[in-house]
Amino acid sequence: MSQNIQSVRGMNDILPGEAEFWELFEETVRSWLKSYGYRPIRMPIVEPTPLFKRAIGEVTDIVEKEMYSFVDSLNGEPLTLRPEGTAGCVRAVIQHNLIAQQPQRLYYMGQMFRHERPQKGRYRQFHQVGVESLGFSGPDIDAEQILMGARLWDDLGLEGIKLQLNTLGQPAERAKHRAELIAYFEKHAELLDEDAKRRLHSNPLRILDSKNPAMQEMIAGAPKLIDHLGAESLAHFEGVQQVLRDAGQPYEINPRLVRGLDYYNLTVFEWVTDRLGAQGTVCAGGRYDGLVEQLGGKPAPACGFAMGVERLIALIRESGGEPAAPGVDVYVVHQGAAASRLAPRVAEGLRDNGIDVLFHCGGGSFKSQMKKADASGAAFAVIIGDDEAAAGEVTLKTLRSEDGQPGQQKRVGVDNVADEIMNSLMDWEEA
Ligand code: HAM
Repeated sequence: MSQNIQSVRGMNDILPGEAEFWELFEETVRSWLKSYGYRPIRMPIVEPTPLFKRAIGEVTDIVEKEMYSFVDSLNGEPLTLRPEGTAGCVRAVIQHNLIAQQPQRLYYMGQMFRHERPQKGRYRQFHQVGVESLGFSGPDIDAEQILMGARLWDDLGLEGIKLQLNTLGQPAERAKHRAELIAYFEKHAELLDEDAKRRLHSNPLRILDSKNPAMQEMIAGAPKLIDHLGAESLAHFEGVQQVLRDAGQPYEINPRLVRGLDYYNLTVFEWVTDRLGAQGTVCAGGRYDGLVEQLGGKPAPACGFAMGVERLIALIRESGGEPAAPGVDVYVVHQGAAASRLAPRVAEGLRDNGIDVLFHCGGGSFKSQMKKADASGAAFAVIIGDDEAAAGEVTLKTLRSEDGQPGQQKRVGVDNVADEIMNSLMDWEEA
């Protein structure tokens, strides 16, 4: 017997039952984004590999070891499944000259791919909702994006997601800090693990992010970037915090928050929960003022964030959230030649009136069809036999009702079924 083919490790099917949570989440997210004036953009899932190397940085975990990169065997082009959305979004903005006239507030949703070790909350295919604003330089947009997050958690009924904030300053300020940092780590070389040694000269800032318990005390004493920031950078950071304080948004400044992608400057932030185990960051982002120019565009400031959809859905489920009950309004049961010709027209007529209909397919006795109708969760069965068909009528049977009296049934003219059903549904809503 041939072996069944399974999905790729770390890439999950989202089945009915789970997928309803996703749809509800996406609906909430879309109306939330609209309420802030963000507009949708859709980029390809595959981009030229050099895009990610240049945007995310050669010496990052993502570029060094997590990208699904391959050579297109048909034309030799180096391609990569997107590990994140910012690079592609900025590429698209430059390519289509989107910010020549005015700044843009954009968002995207979709699959991202990183070859990480799969575990709860960390997958090789995962989904992000990403938000990017391009062309705004002040701290007001950073703060807007942070407060947006807070509102979404509220809209989703999620509590206990905490905000961590930091500033990475500007490249020149970081360079000074970096030199001091390297000198400090060299002084404590005997405490560095292999990873830290490897990063000492390529990306010493990432050492601050190490989880190695043996290095924590030494890391705590390392030179702080904030002590190297000039007046402008400090003012930007203070500007963000001012808006947050005015809005009553609590936050914690975490000087060790450095982010795993190289394009950031000034504000960086993460939303973190302790209810998801090790993978507790549900949303993260910050400012990346250098990236547009670095990817070949006219210099333009930018700021954005992305959230991990799997993690947020896990949190919604963990908080006891329920999507709307699945199911339809009506199940159409039909038997007999004339009935089965009339039934599809009745079903379409109901749908014309905005009623959700599950149409019985596959034949079978009335009894077996009625069992399926009951199991479908529909509020009504519309039953059509040849009797009904000959009279231009249907039998309307209540399967579930608010007054607790299911089982009522009556004959209704074909042209009046929709009205009957809509009136009952409306009565229920009012009750
Ligand atoms: P990131 O921190 O790499 O940032 O990812 C953002 C979020 O995506 C994470 O906080 C997490 O919730 C989720 N995520 C990341 N990797 C995985 C994974 N393997 N499995 C499940 N969820 C994951 C970015 O991607 C930036 N592009 C964010 C940004 C937008 N910065 C500016 N604009």
